[in-house]
Amino acid sequence: MHVNHRTTKSGLKFSELSLGCMNLPLDYPEAKNILSTALDSEISYFDTADLYNKGENETLLGRFFKENGHRHDVMIGSKVGNEFFRGSDEVRWNPSREHIMESVKDSLQRLGTDYLDLYMLHGGMIEDNKEETIEAFNILKREGLIRAYGISSIRPNVIRFYLDYSDIDVVMMQFNLLDNRPEMLTEEIAARDVRILARGPVMKGLLTEQYQDVLPKKFKEGLFDYSVEELNTTLSQVQEPLTVSTMNYLLEQPVASIVAGASSVEQLTSNIDAYQQVDYHTHSRDRFHSINYEDHL
Ligand SMILES: NC(=O)c1ccc[n+]([C@@H]2O[C@H](COP(=O)([O-])OP(=O)(O)OC[C@H]3O[C@@H](n4cnc5c(N)ncnc54)[C@H](OP(=O)(O)O)[C@@H]3O)[C@@H](O)[C@H]2O)c1
Repeated sequence: MHVNHRTTKSGLKFSELSLGCMNLPLDYPEAKNILSTALDSEISYFDTADLYNKGENETLLGRFFKENGHRHDVMIGSKVGNEFFRGSDEVRWNPSREHIMESVKDSLQRLGTDYLDLYMLHGGMIEDNKEETIEAFNILKREGLIRAYGISSIRPNVIRFYLDYSDIDVVMMQFNLLDNRPEMLTEEIAARDVRILARGPVMKGLLTEQYQDVLPKKFKEGLFDYSVEELNTTLSQVQEPLTVSTMNYLLEQPVASIVAGASSVEQLTSNIDAYQQVDYHTHSRDRFHSINYEDHL
């Protein structure tokens, strides 16, 4: 496929469409089919986290790139901050320097690589000792264990702190036509030469041609201030294919990459087809409510 790229301030070159690996099947041959489809389509950023299946998702990616030898042709991003324990379901928030310095070694080992292209803080609260977290990321960058770092957060106060006091390349946030809350922050983010990794671009399948199946399964309570009926009406009124529409909208924003998740080759292929149809102009934004973040301002 034809893919355009966007480069961040530390030189990370993202394919505009990338693969969110969180929902990959646990079965290796099935996951491998999805990953191979992405690689063959010149998707060059693969997004994971240490927490996804307690390290298994990283292990799976590591196995895939070891088998095909393409590690250095792609970028891998992982995340840290949620401490998990073998034999227990407890997850403890831990953004300490010590935890980050230890966790990066585990992630590198599972991924079978000696550097991460991107390392993100997997959440974060305003009460955290943020200076300590930032120091850890800066050390890892200086030592060459990571090429760049970022934060995955939807808390405006936390994002603003990292924009002001750290050297982040990216902020990962859920961003799509329905969840357009990041519009509140796009100017501030762009002004710092930071870019957004837009996760959840198809809103769990709602912004796809399958929306009528997805609505009753995943959104029977509605979404934000939309009722189910309003969602149905709004989505049915969009003229262009919904996934093309949400991608056009995102590519007009300061977005480095659209990080779309997929649990089957069919879903990925359909998202790739949509990306092939973008014309970089938002056509349908006016049909959707403007939503704002209400907490952590
Ligand atoms: N806090 C964080 O840092 C954070 C949180 C969430 C995600 N992420 C990252 O962002 C990535 C993407 O986020 P996401 O997985 O929540 O968002 P998404 O891309 O909106 O949703 C992925 C899910 O949507 C459905 N889907 C995708 N394409 C479809 C299609 N063409 N037709 C029908 N359904 C489709 C599938 O659901 P089914 O599998 O149910 O069919 C798929 O698993 C994740 O993989 C992960 O890497 C980060």
